[in-house]
Amino acid sequence: MSKAAIDLNGIFKALEQNEQAAIDRLIEWLRIPSISTDSKYRPQCRDAARWAVDRLAEAGIEAELVETGTPEKPGHPIVWAEYAGADDYAGPHVLFYGHYDVQPPEPLELWESPPFEPVIKDADGPIEDDVPQRRVVARGAVDDKGQVASFLEALRAWKDQHGQVPVRFTILLEGEEESGSVHLDQFVRANRAKLEQCDICVISDTGQLGRGKPAITTGVRGMAYTNIVLHGPDQDLHSGMWGGKCPNPINELTKVLAQLWDADRKVAIPGFYDDVRPISDEEKQAWSRVPQDAAASLKKIGLPPEADVGERGYSALEREWARPTCDINGIWGGYQGEGAKTVIPSYAGAKVSFRLVADQDPEAITKKFFAWLEERTPPGCRWELTDLHGGHPGNVSADSPYVQSAMKALEVAGGTKPHLIKSGGSIPVVGLLKAELGLDTLLIGFGLDDDRVHSPNEKFEIDCFTLGMRTHAALIGEFASR
Ligand code: BES
Ligand code: MN
Ligand code: MN
Repeated sequence: MSKAAIDLNGIFKALEQNEQAAIDRLIEWLRIPSISTDSKYRPQCRDAARWAVDRLAEAGIEAELVETGTPEKPGHPIVWAEYAGADDYAGPHVLFYGHYDVQPPEPLELWESPPFEPVIKDADGPIEDDVPQRRVVARGAVDDKGQVASFLEALRAWKDQHGQVPVRFTILLEGEEESGSVHLDQFVRANRAKLEQCDICVISDTGQLGRGKPAITTGVRGMAYTNIVLHGPDQDLHSGMWGGKCPNPINELTKVLAQLWDADRKVAIPGFYDDVRPISDEEKQAWSRVPQDAAASLKKIGLPPEADVGERGYSALEREWARPTCDINGIWGGYQGEGAKTVIPSYAGAKVSFRLVADQDPEAITKKFFAWLEERTPPGCRWELTDLHGGHPGNVSADSPYVQSAMKALEVAGGTKPHLIKSGGSIPVVGLLKAELGLDTLLIGFGLDDDRVHSPNEKFEIDCFTLGMRTHAALIGEFASR
């Protein structure tokens, strides 16, 4: 399509007129509790996938559900569509990836409204930056249904205004992102021939630099996630009779885990940093100019400025964007009920995860961690170590021509030049597509850092939703005019 034939303003106007309908559609999707990690919600995951298939059909795009896993160990279906675009289309074949699954909503008592009964409300705190901050509150609002919906709405608007979407694309909506994308490797390998036809992947599952500060994300971290259990006596024991006479697995586990960080808050596992790409001088300089305020961010989560702690020698931004970390995400053992119980438990466990950066390898890190634990096995005890999942870090060069297209689309849609940022979060498919197919990804996200991702009262602000719709509509125009 020639630039002249593209009426972006017409499409923007249509999006504006249809805003309420778009919000209503999103609310419908958010009502479906597609919690992928909990097998009780298998039918709901399928319903959420079907919902997307139906909305795509309305935009003239034929999509299907592709099963994953095996009959014995079934996975959640992938929403898959291939669309040819206009006859004269000469731009890149785009792979659009998103996920329809959501995190479990617990703890339920902290939600101000039920997680799967979406509500529209105004800002709940003081108005910042003079914008209304109207939002939809529900599990999955920003991660990732609201962001995927912004893409679906852009397709719909193009179809309504031009009779078709001009761009050639493939859609892959996953239902297992929040539970480790366990069947995605297999799917990508099985569909290699089709996926190899794609030139660039586009994902909206990240955030902006801040309100009114749209951004393109050029890097996400990788992940290695483990479950570790330390077994001691073969039964729970009276701590009066046995305390001080045999290992207490909780005491022993916490002593080992406490050695994970040294005095500089560096991860103490030998070789952990071997493959870490140092932050370049250019990056250091560019990042020091990024408008960010560590103390203000901490304040938003109820912490004072002195809570700005992490690996010594790096700023908060550097630590999030380009340094690996280790976190205990859960820990258990012994008595947790009301009142006191004098017990030495038979075992204690923890969920330990690592955020990784280029060029660390998740499998190699897990191996090093497990070897490190074995060397520290407390006397008489035994480890039960499980590798839950991993994902490679993903990085895109900011000089890529696709990043330039995305910058233009964001600027047209949002009226301001986007920032180039990285994110500390992980999106396993990014590293997977790069490793398997050499495919780069454009991460164009519309979230805000106070969206309470994975937490109670998750929200997506309507202005962010609108920016998402407009940006995807503009990006389609950008690719079509090549
Ligand atoms: N959308 C997030 C990742 C994200 C969050 C990127 C915030 C940038 C900013 C994604 O759904 C997610 O939660 N990923 C998991 C991956 C894990 C399960 C392998 C994560 O980062 O913990
Ligand atoms: Mn997500
Ligand atoms: Mn998530």
